[in-house]
Amino acid sequence: MNIIKLDAIDSTNEYLKQLISNKLHQNYTVVTANFQTNGKGQMGSTWSSEAGKNLTMSILVQDVLNNSQDMFYFNMAVALSVQEVLKSYDVSNTSIKWPNDIMSGKNKLGGILIENLIKQDGTISSIIGIGLNVNQTNFDGLPNATSVFNVLGTTIDLDDLMLKIVVKIQYYSQNLFHQKREILEKYHQNLFRIGMPSAFEDQSGNRFMAIIKNVSTDGKLIIQLEDDSFKSFGVKEIKMLL
Ligand code: BTN
Repeated sequence: MNIIKLDAIDSTNEYLKQLISNKLHQNYTVVTANFQTNGKGQMGSTWSSEAGKNLTMSILVQDVLNNSQDMFYFNMAVALSVQEVLKSYDVSNTSIKWPNDIMSGKNKLGGILIENLIKQDGTISSIIGIGLNVNQTNFDGLPNATSVFNVLGTTIDLDDLMLKIVVKIQYYSQNLFHQKREILEKYHQNLFRIGMPSAFEDQSGNRFMAIIKNVSTDGKLIIQLEDDSFKSFGVKEIKMLL
């Protein structure tokens, strides 16, 4: 495993992208940073994290996906990997909030940003960016954020945690194709607020209550509305209000 540890960088995802473009890369190359000056979150948001306290890492995975239909399976497998490792530290009440936020109770522990680059030969290189709040204790202005320390009350070694997550992702990636049913099943078993009435907001700002029924294999959220009809939404089309 090739691990590159950086002190400060704009974004570990961007750094890894640059490495790929320079052709200097090995499958499962891991980049970690003590601090990111321009960390990227889902849908154009920013990801901020206190220096030296948390896990900010990117992992390169190649030769797993060869078509875009399986991208959401990969996404689910990565989220399950992170959640399963956290469970092994006895972090309580973990779940995955669609599509891939990592939760403890109703608070967010971390998030995942996967960027897929389709190469000329049709193969896909994935850059898995993981931001996990580990030893940070203060989340001023972020009422729904928490950390492993805040849940467990003990400090966690960041290198141990990073290695465990990479090993788990490697395992799932190498077994993705014969574990698709299991991945889908586990993802649903661990899905935040599945089967419970929850508040949502659509793209036009309409707020409504609905029940999460399912997530399709292409990553759409399927909810049941108050009139009992079903509707499916892509990530950019709906947000869950906490
Ligand atoms: C989210 O919005 O929940 C996803 C956050 C992903 C943040 C991580 S931190 C390491 C990697 N580098 C980035 O710039 N972003 C991801």
